[in-house]
Amino acid sequence: MENLQATKQRFGIIGNDIQLNRAIEKALRVAPTDISVLVVGESGVGKESVPKIIHQLSHRKHAKYIAVNCGAIPEGTIDSELFGHEKGAFTGATQTRKGYFEVADGGTIFLDEVGELPLTTQVRLLRVLENGEFIKVGSSQVQKTNVRIVAATNVNMHDAISKGKFREDLYYRLSTIEIPLPPLRQRGEDIHLLFRKFAADFAQKYRMPTIRLEDNAVKVLTNYNFPGNIRQLRNIAEQISVVEENRNISSQKLTQYLPDMQGNLPAVVGNNNSNSDFANERDIMYKILFDMRNDINDLKKLTLDLLKDGTSQEVKEENHRLIQKIYQEQETEVIPEVEVVQIPQQTNQNNYDFIETIEEDENLSLQEKEIEMIKKSLEKNSGKRKLAAKELGISERTLYRKIKQYDL
Ligand SMILES: Nc1ncnc2c1ncn2[C@@H]1O[C@H](COP(=O)(O)OP(=O)(O)OP(=O)(O)O)[C@@H](O)[C@H]1O
Ligand SMILES: [Mg+2]
Repeated sequence: MENLQATKQRFGIIGNDIQLNRAIEKALRVAPTDISVLVVGESGVGKESVPKIIHQLSHRKHAKYIAVNCGAIPEGTIDSELFGHEKGAFTGATQTRKGYFEVADGGTIFLDEVGELPLTTQVRLLRVLENGEFIKVGSSQVQKTNVRIVAATNVNMHDAISKGKFREDLYYRLSTIEIPLPPLRQRGEDIHLLFRKFAADFAQKYRMPTIRLEDNAVKVLTNYNFPGNIRQLRNIAEQISVVEENRNISSQKLTQYLPDMQGNLPAVVGNNNSNSDFANERDIMYKILFDMRNDINDLKKLTLDLLKDGTSQEVKEENHRLIQKIYQEQETEVIPEVEVVQIPQQTNQNNYDFIETIEEDENLSLQEKEIEMIKKSLEKNSGKRKLAAKELGISERTLYRKIKQYDL
């Protein structure tokens, strides 16, 4: 069995916390077997290292290791991604495709965010776990595969089971061995150790002197709740490294980088800090305005479409007047650089060309706004996608996809 310290070094894991050590030791012990493992722990605690350790220290290390983020794949394509599909299985399936379970035969599949798997996919997964069998989408032929599964989740699986979102039988299959990773707030001295490591990394990256925490700041850091765990700690170290000119960081300075010092509630639920109350209200207003703007754009488009359909000369003339009015409004609001708009006497498709330009511009700026809102919300919720999705009023799955799409 590979030595604990050597493993940490090899996989870049910092810390000596007893629970962390126990988790790594457990991973080392189960690695040579084919037993399924479920890694549990809050977001940002480092769950992704565990399947890598297990794969690398198993007899499967020369075969494929595939990590799948179950939450990021749209529900409609997840079965085909995992199990493959036959040519013609659905529109767009122009060729037979191998799924991850076929490609990773002999290797390991890491199912990250396994709690997000749709129920139908859970049934297929259960079958693979039970007898190594699967069927491509659109096929009737049973195939065999030999894959070791390591799964991870940051949601409470017992909750998911009681709500009917996760199959109990699958849960027991997946969690033959459960490896819990402790939240950062429970790791004591590791917190400062990690901070120093990140501070040194960022100093090197940005070619600046390393930031240093004053003694009272170390206390503040060690007592902070870290809802976003190590991911959040690293972000904080990066922000301070880049922003602060004085490289000695006091506790007051540090506090400015720790959102929600009062109780680590999601900010929208409320806290006592009037500044951030203001920021929250502003964000909510921003969202409402954003939605309203979308509605207005839809309405404008609908109105224009209706106007285009007018038939009698009288109606057409009236329509032109209205169209002109809308154009003028749009000009002043959106594209002031367009000077004069000529409205023809006869309705003609070409004359609406610049409307498309307006829409493109608007789409672009809407997209920017969307990216900005997502970023803000993620920052505010310390990278917790669940909370951010709730605040943005979109599903977690949609948020995952947007994060991927915009590379956030
Ligand atoms: N002990 C550690 N030492 C050094 N870096 C760590 C440690 N634990 C986590 N990290 C780093 O923190 C970041 C978050 O870890 P990771 O992506 O594994 O979190 P996670 O548990 O998978 O979270 P989520 O549930 O949100 O996916 C990664 O960049 C990882 O390298
Ligand atoms: Mg992860």
